[in-house]
Amino acid sequence: MGRLQDKVAIVTGGARGMGAATARVFVAEGAKVAIADVLDEPGERLARELGTRALFQHHDVSDEASWSRLIEVVEARLGPIDVLVNNAGVLLFKTIAETSRAEFERVLGVNLIGCFLGTRLVGARLVTRRRGAIVNVSSVDGMKAANGLGAYCASKWAVRGFTKVAAMEFGHRGVRVNSVHPGGIDTAMGNPYAEPKAEVNKRYAMVPLQRVGEPEEVARVSLFLASDEASYLNGAEIAVDGGMLCGQYYLGFPGAPGV
Ligand SMILES: NC(=O)c1ccc[n+]([C@@H]2O[C@H](COP(=O)([O-])OP(=O)(O)OC[C@H]3O[C@@H](n4cnc5c(N)ncnc54)[C@H](O)[C@@H]3O)[C@@H](O)[C@H]2O)c1
Repeated sequence: MGRLQDKVAIVTGGARGMGAATARVFVAEGAKVAIADVLDEPGERLARELGTRALFQHHDVSDEASWSRLIEVVEARLGPIDVLVNNAGVLLFKTIAETSRAEFERVLGVNLIGCFLGTRLVGARLVTRRRGAIVNVSSVDGMKAANGLGAYCASKWAVRGFTKVAAMEFGHRGVRVNSVHPGGIDTAMGNPYAEPKAEVNKRYAMVPLQRVGEPEEVARVSLFLASDEASYLNGAEIAVDGGMLCGQYYLGFPGAPGV
């Protein structure tokens, strides 16, 4: 008996990275998974790899009509939906001064509006059955600031706050909504130049665990939040960051790395 046995889940941005890891872990735990992404080729390949318990659907999270199509396909092919992981996301590395309005809106369109549309439209299905879970993938950049990430931080802080409103509005109707806040994770987004692990790890020398995270390490937390094991978690935020948010080391003082 898997931890998500026969539950039907949608994972947005499921074609690669953390979304793909989440789809793999969910299927391994008995779920039926819809991989929803704008990237067709890797999404279809992953669905084939995962077999009859998975399907791929081309889906743009920022497009309301695309959500309606996705829900229709998933209900027809996999059954009533139990779990939504709002994982799709885009990153923009630019200072505020360099960011155009269109760029800012694009980041919010995917990261925030996508999460809102999914929560509203899939959430409506979940509350009619008075069961289910939504996991919103925010970021450590939804809990702190980062230079060059004005649009991204704005979107991820907003997802964090939005998650708590959703937890209040849906909780008393049987649906839990929580957020996950990854730190640096070894994906196309977190490691855009596909540097070797040892090189990437050097960037995280000031994170207590002193390494980049693996997509599966986030996927396992989403699995927990999606499963009945997290039955009393609602509106919670879990940082999966190797301790990045704990604080800042005073280098050279007791307890710092190398001392
Ligand atoms: N990698 C990191 O270090 C890190 C850290 C914190 C948070 N996150 C968040 O984790 C989530 C997954 O990121 P990842 O690291 O796997 O990145 P990734 O770029 O590998 O994957 C993101 C996926 O989202 C998809 N996507 C983008 N726009 C979409 C849209 N409009 N509709 C549907 N799908 C869309 C992409 O095609 C891609 O498959 C994102 O929300 C990201 O912001 C990542």
